[in-house]
Amino acid sequence: MTYAFQAEGLVKRYGKTVALDGVDLAARPGTVLGVLGPNGAGKTTAVRVLATLLRPDAGRATVGGYDVVRDADQVRRRIGLTGQYASVDDDLTGTENLLLIGRLMDLRTAEARVRAAELLARFDLTEAAGRPARTYSGGMRRRLDLAASLVGRPEVIYLDEPTTGLDPAKRDDVWNMVRALLADGTTVLLTTQYLEEADALADEITVMDHGRVIAHDTPADLKRIVGGQTIAARPADPARLGDTEQILHEVSGHRPESPSRGVLTVPVPDDTAFTEAVRRLAAAGVTMTELSLRLPSLDEVFLTLTGHGADDRQEAGV
Ligand SMILES: Nc1ncnc2c1ncn2[C@@H]1O[C@H](COP(=O)(O)OP(=O)(O)OP(=O)(O)O)[C@@H](O)[C@H]1O
Ligand SMILES: [Mg+2]
Repeated sequence: MTYAFQAEGLVKRYGKTVALDGVDLAARPGTVLGVLGPNGAGKTTAVRVLATLLRPDAGRATVGGYDVVRDADQVRRRIGLTGQYASVDDDLTGTENLLLIGRLMDLRTAEARVRAAELLARFDLTEAAGRPARTYSGGMRRRLDLAASLVGRPEVIYLDEPTTGLDPAKRDDVWNMVRALLADGTTVLLTTQYLEEADALADEITVMDHGRVIAHDTPADLKRIVGGQTIAARPADPARLGDTEQILHEVSGHRPESPSRGVLTVPVPDDTAFTEAVRRLAAAGVTMTELSLRLPSLDEVFLTLTGHGADDRQEAGV
């Protein structure tokens, strides 16, 4: 299989800290790899290696088949990087920032101008294009940073925690941009501390903790590792709660719980029990306003994989 980027056995030490302890990461072209992990997991370190900014102590990584150490120039031509350490120059306007990068990328002036205008429009920054970046809001800076990383039309883009600290509306903007990048055929490596984000955007998720990969799977399969799926059911007529309860009990072998008024939930081993519940409820003439099979949240997955919640620890000084 060919990967848009691939890292194998990456090791990086800072003194006694082992930031990367044998990390494998890979994504097929045109997909999103979500790299999920708490503070200090090693996400930024891995991105920096893949972006040729940091030499690994051991292991290797390639982008488009080019080695990040031996063929760093070839790799740089194919990647865009944005994120935690924004590349935007505060004193330059939005347009000037993009033109500067265009020049660094050897675009002709006219070409760079066209590209800058196109990207500013795409990221809804046309009106602010003539203002210094220091006058931009956090969300605008984030968008300019993302635009900057796209000037060279990268095949692979690294988004290092692109939504950390953004409010939900801005976060949705970034999510939509990621989807737009995908529509263009770009391959995306997205690091995040938000389980919901990896679930929403990623084709595959690599979970990191303490410099190690502790899981790699599709979002759905990762969630299935925790095992229990749950049926949630709400009959339209509360008078049918008793019938609903009995049917759920029979198909699952468990007594349903009621987490909120009018709703019943019950754990099931697989989706055949769900199919059976649907069939029996219909046969009994119970109309439902809600009937779903829920997977556990990625938060619960993280807890299962690491024995601690994603928020339960903060590395000192990170
Ligand atoms: N330049 C450095 N010098 C010393 N230690 C470092 C350096 N960069 C990272 N580390 C350490 O390496 C480990 C991994 O850090 P890294 O920044 O890769 O984590 P991260 O997953 O990106 O975390 P965050 O979510 O906080 O951004 C941490 O323990 C960090 O303190
Ligand atoms: Mg980081």
